[in-house]
Amino acid sequence: MKVLIIGGGGREHTLAWKISQSPSVEAVYAAPGNAGIAEIAECIPVSATDIDALSGFAREHKIDLTVVGPEAPLVAGIVDTFRARGLAIFGFDRKGARLEGSKVWAKEFMDRHGIPTGGFSVFDDPAGAADAIRDNSPPYVIKADGLAAGKGVLICGSEAEAMDAIDRIMKERVFGDAGERIIIEEFLTGQELSILAIFDGRTYRLFVPSQDHKRAYDGDEGPNTGGMGAYAPVPLYDTELERRVAREIIEPTFNGMREDGITGAGVLYFGLIITGDGPKVLEYNCRFGDPETQVILPLFDGDLAEVMREAVSQNLEKADFSNSAESAVCVVVASGGYPGSYRKGYTITGIERAGGKGCIVFHAGTALVDDRLQTSGGRVLGVTALGSSLGEALGRVYSGVEEISFTDRFFRRDIGGKGLQQV
Ligand code: GLY
Repeated sequence: MKVLIIGGGGREHTLAWKISQSPSVEAVYAAPGNAGIAEIAECIPVSATDIDALSGFAREHKIDLTVVGPEAPLVAGIVDTFRARGLAIFGFDRKGARLEGSKVWAKEFMDRHGIPTGGFSVFDDPAGAADAIRDNSPPYVIKADGLAAGKGVLICGSEAEAMDAIDRIMKERVFGDAGERIIIEEFLTGQELSILAIFDGRTYRLFVPSQDHKRAYDGDEGPNTGGMGAYAPVPLYDTELERRVAREIIEPTFNGMREDGITGAGVLYFGLIITGDGPKVLEYNCRFGDPETQVILPLFDGDLAEVMREAVSQNLEKADFSNSAESAVCVVVASGGYPGSYRKGYTITGIERAGGKGCIVFHAGTALVDDRLQTSGGRVLGVTALGSSLGEALGRVYSGVEEISFTDRFFRRDIGGKGLQQV
């Protein structure tokens, strides 16, 4: 099987790493890929959103399966185009991708299908939104409706901050058309969990539950990021919670997708919060999480390419799907300044030494320039280690992270700490 992976971050490096281990895979391509992916796949210089060029490549190179990493091409309808051209692709169609592409649509979906989530109101004019802020008390959760590169959810601690957020999203349009409508949502407290499932329109299978660390600094301080690290499994997700999430959230979601005629096979990401009133959905994503993928795929024991191929043929129930009982931790090593502005082009060293400590190093923001590996993004590397316990995986991962060196590098030193407290 020839596989094309779309995207070029840490998630896509992990997908390429796992898919290239499949005995039935003879070649892996990535568009555009990155310096780490280039070690195991052929990278082609095509943007992840250039749907015509990607489908042309898939047809010309007789690609048997295309796997979509990021949300933007899914929301733009890459699956609909590939299918119309007779090309096999793993990912949800445009309608399914609306679960991530429109926060309003996702909330209305949850309302329609009785899926627990925070209370919310939708606004398409800034004056109405401002009135709602005045009528309520902080903290305020304000969400831009459309895709905003992970920056569209703002938690505002004061009325002034909330008014400023409304102006920036709806009047200044800092997120473009994504800010045409906003949601003002109930602020929920509790631990967050990421549950990722493969769904083929009929049946579903679950990866190991994981927990991301979205704030930049230790102790969940500082600005929100794309994710500074993850671990799996999550001890608080015990059998009772697992049954409740399946009954109240996962099954109603997939029943709702079937009823709404959402077709295709893909990964649905349930961003959950475990509140005093039980589990609730914070968000859906229509793709693998980043950095959750860097822990759930190393813990996946099956043949991922075969599972995806079966899912695309609506035969997921036949696929051999099994997860390891080990633990995994991924620590993201980032450029100083991220998620704000940062410099690029610093030389990276220590990846082989981290490998020698039993870690797998996934590239995110790296580039090979004149045979020299350099930083080229905010999240530079994801260092992953496995262990028979969370404690063992943590010891291993941090010994590997200490080997990685580049100017101004930073990482969180408390990834997985909440998991240790839950044991
Ligand atoms: N880790 C958060 C996300 O993938 O959206």
